[in-house]
Amino acid sequence: MAGLVAVLTRVSPEEPDEARQEYAYISDLVVLARYRRRGLGRILLEHAEALARKRGATTLRVGVLAKNRIAHGLYQQLGFNDFQVQMVKDL
Ligand SMILES: CC(C)(COP(=O)(O)OP(=O)(O)OC[C@H]1O[C@@H](n2cnc3c(N)ncnc32)[C@H](O)[C@@H]1OP(=O)(O)O)[C@@H](O)C(=O)NCCC(=O)NCCS
Repeated sequence: MAGLVAVLTRVSPEEPDEARQEYAYISDLVVLARYRRRGLGRILLEHAEALARKRGATTLRVGVLAKNRIAHGLYQQLGFNDFQVQMVKDL
């Protein structure tokens, strides 16, 4: 195995101020280090998107750490836009 992607195709919104429509959610994406920069990440994401569409989803979400510039850049390249900001403070 060189990598994997997991997509939940029907997730219900939980936040009260969100649109009530279900969405698809990429819960995991990883390519083993020795297989990176060969286009696999992009291919896996395209498959996840195609599966989500096939199952009737109209939006696709993914969470990414702010410091993960590589994944963030990849998602932006594939048409994802910033949607939610989660903030943290060391105590
Ligand atoms: C994010 C990850 C899945 C990308 O997989 P990948 O197979 O290397 O991705 P691709 O080869 O398809 O690269 C697609 C684009 O991502 C960006 N990218 C990938 N690796 C990069 C790097 N080391 N530096 C900068 N940009 C990078 C580039 O824009 C690249 O396009 P390009 O090759 O045309 O320049 C992989 O780095 C990974 O598994 N990281 C650890 C786990 C992780 O962070 N998962 C995401 C959690 S939200």
